[in-house]
Amino acid sequence: MNDSKPVLVSGVKPTGDLHIGNYFGAMRQFVELIQTGKYRPFIFVADYHALNTMQNAEEMKRRTHELVMAYLAVGLDPKEVVFFKQSDVPAHTELCWIFDTITTMPYLMRAHAFKDAEAKNREINVGTFNYPMLMAADILLYDAAVVPVGADQKQHIEIARDTAEKFNRVFKTEVFKLPEPYIMPDVAVVPGTDGQKMSKSYGNVIPLFATRDELVKCVMGIVTDSSGERPKNVYAIHTLVRSERELGKMYDEHRGNYKMLKELLIEDLDRYLAPIRAKYEELTDDPGIVEEVLTRGKREACAVSEAKMEQVRRAIGVA
Ligand code: ADP
Ligand code: TRP
Repeated sequence: MNDSKPVLVSGVKPTGDLHIGNYFGAMRQFVELIQTGKYRPFIFVADYHALNTMQNAEEMKRRTHELVMAYLAVGLDPKEVVFFKQSDVPAHTELCWIFDTITTMPYLMRAHAFKDAEAKNREINVGTFNYPMLMAADILLYDAAVVPVGADQKQHIEIARDTAEKFNRVFKTEVFKLPEPYIMPDVAVVPGTDGQKMSKSYGNVIPLFATRDELVKCVMGIVTDSSGERPKNVYAIHTLVRSERELGKMYDEHRGNYKMLKELLIEDLDRYLAPIRAKYEELTDDPGIVEEVLTRGKREACAVSEAKMEQVRRAIGVA
């Protein structure tokens, strides 16, 4: 791995049940960015962030395992990427505490997550309130230059920058580098089988690792309104796996024959997803793989973050 490349850091929460909306909307661009080879990537499973909402040991274990498998299946190469679990690297929570001591309550009360909870009159746990501090630690420990995230996370990166500046100012050092957000390009929202946005909370998903039989069932269940020339939802999903030029011809030729168009979509989706599914199955046959990847990631992430923590401890006067 080339140490002179700019560092890329990102966390993914193990919230599970990945669908093709997640893949085409986020995972694919993320993995492609890493595959450019321009960066030195540190990618972690944000399990301590997820603990704010997922408080069930069995679920945490299962979803973490699934997430690592999924990212390996869609093309993250563990030889090129330091891939680890946040909870395996104690520096994240240690630095989070230090950041807590230099950050004020009113500052964090301006964060979106807190304001949303307040607007909805919801009680918010301290972990959620503090989420941006843990995220700042995640990023700053590795001297991240770029942090690829969705647009909804931009404020968190700004908080990380402010926190780096504040630490450097308060302790009169240059320990932390200021990260830049890399906002993943917005892709069109992928509709679910009922035409609403595809989302695990609406029960309208096509699972990313669907078997052929599941695919048939999901696609045949796509709601088609008979008023238009083209079945809108079928077409929108089809554009993910075939060019609009080719689709134009196909949908003209089979105008009105929704069953046929769905069958063509099944073929195309199946062809597209088959290699990802095959890779997932290959990984399933290798039961130690997740453990092995995470153990190596832990070792590398601990080495880098511990070196940074030594500077931090000296800067604050505890070492
Ligand atoms: P869900 O709505 O199923 O809970 P998440 O909120 O966990 O999905 O989304 C994870 C990532 O996947 C986000 O970056 C989001 O933008 C992307 N994503 C989720 N659903 C879609 C969709 N239907 N179309 C495009 N992108 C999506
Ligand atoms: N908050 C991010 C999300 O909800 C996940 C995350 C946690 C993250 N720590 C991070 C992303 C550090 C980038 C860098 O998607």
